[in-house]
Amino acid sequence: MNTNALKQQAGEYAAAFVESSMIVGLGSGSTAIFATRRIAERIHRGELADIVAIPTSLATEAAAIELGIPLTTLAEHPRIDITIDGADEVDPAFNLIKGGGGAHLREKIVAQATERLVIVADDSKLVDQLGASWALPVEVIPFGWESQAAYLASLGASPTLRMDGDTPFETDQGNIILDADFGRIADPAALDTTLNARAGIVEHGLFIGMAHDVVVAGADDLRHLRKA
Ligand code: A5P
Repeated sequence: MNTNALKQQAGEYAAAFVESSMIVGLGSGSTAIFATRRIAERIHRGELADIVAIPTSLATEAAAIELGIPLTTLAEHPRIDITIDGADEVDPAFNLIKGGGGAHLREKIVAQATERLVIVADDSKLVDQLGASWALPVEVIPFGWESQAAYLASLGASPTLRMDGDTPFETDQGNIILDADFGRIADPAALDTTLNARAGIVEHGLFIGMAHDVVVAGADDLRHLRKA
């Protein structure tokens, strides 16, 4: 089975967790879109009523509008019942690296307002330690971004400015991203605290203690892991 089929399995499985009258966070990326599409199908089949959703990126917002999913805002609904989102890495404690698509700031804002964050992934995303295979996306404001790159290097990372063709990749907030390769991250919670304290770093892709469920699809099985 190819990776896309595994992503589809995980995303569609998690869409079954959504119930009528829920406020739903819609994740971003190539796995979460399968959950979003299945939620739309369930709405149109009449299985789900009174659903309103909050998208985690402009791309997801556009997809949700096209799929006919009613949208709301955090101003109207500050508490979200369930969010289904993807991840780039998931460690055994359900800590995550996110931001491969550059949407981690809005994703984290939605996640921190969410009762139940469900991560959907193919099994290549499971790692024994964060940083094992993925550089940490760090969103920084364009002003003085070179000083953030130097700061990340001082912490032991190799930062790379994310590009979109010939120009820097621009986030939904008009910021830029440094992909900071820390190698294996021994203490993700400590790094989270360090990065949170730095002016100019808007948000980074470490999601510590936020996920409640992980739905992971592999060639042989689909597993629904729940936080102990
Ligand atoms: C978006 O910026 C990300 O956080 C995605 O959720 C993450 O990169 C997973 O994306 P895929 O499902 O496309 O691998």
